[in-house]
Amino acid sequence: MRTIFAFAAALGLSAVSLTLPQAKAADAPLRWAYPIYARPANAPMPPPVNEAELKRVPNSTLAVTLERSRSAFNVPDWHPDDHPPAPDVILRGRRSDVEGCAHCHLPNGLGTTILQAPGLAGLSVAYITQQIAEFKSGVRKSAMEKYSGTGTMTFVSRPMNEDDTRIAAEYFAALKPKPWFRVVESARVPTTRTEDLMSVKADTDTTEALGTRIIEVPEDFERTQLRDSRSGFVAYVPPGSIKRGEVLVTTGRKGTTTPCATCHGADLQGIGPVPLLAGRSPTYIVRQLYDIQQGARAGAWSALMVPVVAKLTETDMVDIAAYAASRMP
Ligand code: HEC
Ligand code: HEC
Repeated sequence: MRTIFAFAAALGLSAVSLTLPQAKAADAPLRWAYPIYARPANAPMPPPVNEAELKRVPNSTLAVTLERSRSAFNVPDWHPDDHPPAPDVILRGRRSDVEGCAHCHLPNGLGTTILQAPGLAGLSVAYITQQIAEFKSGVRKSAMEKYSGTGTMTFVSRPMNEDDTRIAAEYFAALKPKPWFRVVESARVPTTRTEDLMSVKADTDTTEALGTRIIEVPEDFERTQLRDSRSGFVAYVPPGSIKRGEVLVTTGRKGTTTPCATCHGADLQGIGPVPLLAGRSPTYIVRQLYDIQQGARAGAWSALMVPVVAKLTETDMVDIAAYAASRMP
């Protein structure tokens, strides 16, 4: 906590009010940003898969079964030369509750739409350590109770000891963030279905109106399912959102919000303990803005974000996230 307030003081920010908004019951305007992956009762069953069949991905010598690729305690590392040697807590975790971080965040720390785990590559050690502590203590929650992603982190972080946290934080902080989302403005998007805890393109050529939402799908479902850390994602965002987001992020749009660069760095690259936003999952960004606005994410450092999000509408959040995701990390 001291780090962030010293940091705020160094930026010349006046005393930040520590009063956080009371958590409100979430009426569900941003429901889509909190994916719940229950299969609708009338949905057709997915085609049967041979769980024992050895699978491969391009440019890797590894071959694993689909079952193995789903293990949280023996995560396949398809491209070990892409990153420094991954410690045990990243690939294997510790039974029974500390799941290997790469299971959801991938060995290169870029994240996946499986459960919507965000990229962690290039976040600072101080920031990651703080977030783990706050998932653990429960002050970082989700505004949408039924979304299981935040609860998953609470579950994973509770049994983590100091060494687990330090090793994981140092590992992710040392990784280089890379472009991972192809951000496409479009009024219509492919129809999606739910499989393996993510949205994927349906097997038809039908489309639907996007409206004020963001839809993220894997570029290649099978590679993502296998946790291939070289296969990224498409994020569909509303027409005009990137430009509108740029105005909000860079000027605050006539006092609607605070320009972000002061704290998040030039072009949203992050500074000191404040997280980078450039090139990260736009749905994740919307979810955090809303969680902070609703008071569900109420960590020690969230206080600095409270005035930033106070007046943002649903559309503003989508626009900001579209712009942030479109920036080169
Ligand atoms: C089963 C999936 C899963 C596993 C395993 C997992 N995470 Fe996460 N993690 C998530 C999801 C989902 C979120 C986003 C939660 C939200 O939106 O509130 C997240 C968020 C985070 C964040 C917050 C990022 C930010 O920008 O604030 C950190 C830090 C983090 N995880 C660290 C870890 C570490 C370290 C491990 C390994 C010990 C780990 N996670 C294992 C799914 C997972
Ligand atoms: C006064 C400093 C400050 C300003 C200005 C600011 N932020 Fe932040 N932001 C922070 C801090 C500190 C955090 C970490 C909050 C926490 O730990 O809960 C944060 C967290 C976030 C997060 C969550 C990131 C993650 O990885 O979970 C998002 C999204 C975000 N800010 C977006 C923005 C946007 C967009 C703007 C401009 C419109 C902005 N912020 C302006 C300080 C600031």
